[in-house]
Amino acid sequence: MVQQPSATPVLLIGAGMIAHDQVLPALLQMRREGAIGEVSVCSRRARSTRALDNAPAIRRAFPDTWFRSVVASDVDADSPSPELYKEALSELPPRSVVVVAVPDQLHSEIVLTALRADQHVCCVKPLVLTTAESHLIESEARSRGLLVGVEYHKRFDPRSLMARDRYRDGRFGEFKLGTARLMEKWHYRESNFQEWFCASATDSFVYIGCHYVDLVHFITGLDPRAVSVYGLLDTLPNGMQGYLWTDARVIWENGACLSVQNSLSFPDGAPGPNTQGMTLYCTGTGRGAMIDHSDQYRGISYSFGARAPGPGATQYAEPSPDYFQYQDLGGPGLVPTGYGVRSVQRIVSEALRLEHESSSLADRQQILDGIDAQGMLATAANSRFNVAVCEAARESILDGGRLVDVPQ
Ligand SMILES: NC(=O)c1ccc[n+]([C@@H]2O[C@H](COP(=O)([O-])OP(=O)(O)OC[C@H]3O[C@@H](n4cnc5c(N)ncnc54)[C@H](O)[C@@H]3O)[C@@H](O)[C@H]2O)c1
Repeated sequence: MVQQPSATPVLLIGAGMIAHDQVLPALLQMRREGAIGEVSVCSRRARSTRALDNAPAIRRAFPDTWFRSVVASDVDADSPSPELYKEALSELPPRSVVVVAVPDQLHSEIVLTALRADQHVCCVKPLVLTTAESHLIESEARSRGLLVGVEYHKRFDPRSLMARDRYRDGRFGEFKLGTARLMEKWHYRESNFQEWFCASATDSFVYIGCHYVDLVHFITGLDPRAVSVYGLLDTLPNGMQGYLWTDARVIWENGACLSVQNSLSFPDGAPGPNTQGMTLYCTGTGRGAMIDHSDQYRGISYSFGARAPGPGATQYAEPSPDYFQYQDLGGPGLVPTGYGVRSVQRIVSEALRLEHESSSLADRQQILDGIDAQGMLATAANSRFNVAVCEAARESILDGGRLVDVPQ
């Protein structure tokens, strides 16, 4: 498709793992299709932006379109420029789109700064860590008629949508007990996580458990009421202490209980990039019902001739065809596909629709109300329950796993 010179530009703030694995390819595909204008990327250190600029997988997929790196010219690649994103924001026309993919504890400040610069925002999960911050974000966005979409990509996995549809059709009865797990690979400890995964700021439950809290709400419509999180402190290679192992219990408004285990402990030699899944036991129509998702093993197993290079790569592998894959559809380059791509693109597309279908602040607020009420796309307002769980979870984990009410 021919590029539209006037198409809306998008700024990606953060150039780490999620930017490389999911967000940037999703944006570059939109750019390739002419749906958005220039994509620019800025991060705290020029080194990470340059690493994206040289990433072999993204280079191979996008020989025909690329992004603009925003780097400070007067500092070396490893010097931090934590305010550089403000310069990048000042160059962006109002009512463009900003994608925030920085560590959890920085979301609040960067999302608010982007909103005050009159930008729509797509933010990776969890949006923020306190309900007070989420209220601030909601009111800033609403007063300006701006979208804040939270990137909970599991919502766009067809199995989540199937379960939601069937649950809401009454076919599972009522959810009562559930278990979920998401363990990332051990080598995550050696990554940039060492810069931010400290015990006082976040933990494995807040980092990845929030996906399954979101899914239970997304499927059942239930709201969480209390949480307790037991965490084990462990030492990252740089000596920093983090809650690298967590066991959480989430109690829901109907008394149902979801147990969630999370960690950075899946062995590097084990197949697949992680292990994850969810089982929900329900009442059915009186004889029980169940939803059981293997979110890691999706029916593919490969035994390669040799172990691939890279941390966590294995000779025997169980790749997921569903989250993110590059596909050769005849070129140019490769097309990123999967629910990770759909999720980012849906949020950005909703921001573009908001602009195209409105001519006043009142129009935009009406569209935003519709998005909030529909509940397909997570927003500051309709996903506040999960920020509240994160807030209560932090209090609980720092107090030995005490049951803490989720702020309403
Ligand atoms: N499954 C998921 O949904 C999923 C998976 C991974 C990460 N995430 C989320 O994505 C976020 C980032 O995680 P990651 O794994 O990419 O982390 P990472 O440590 O690999 O990357 C973080 C990036 O943020 C940049 N950054 C930090 N401070 C900045 C600033 N002031 N200005 C601009 N850039 C700044 C860093 O330079 C780095 O490029 C986290 O909130 C995490 O929870 C979500």
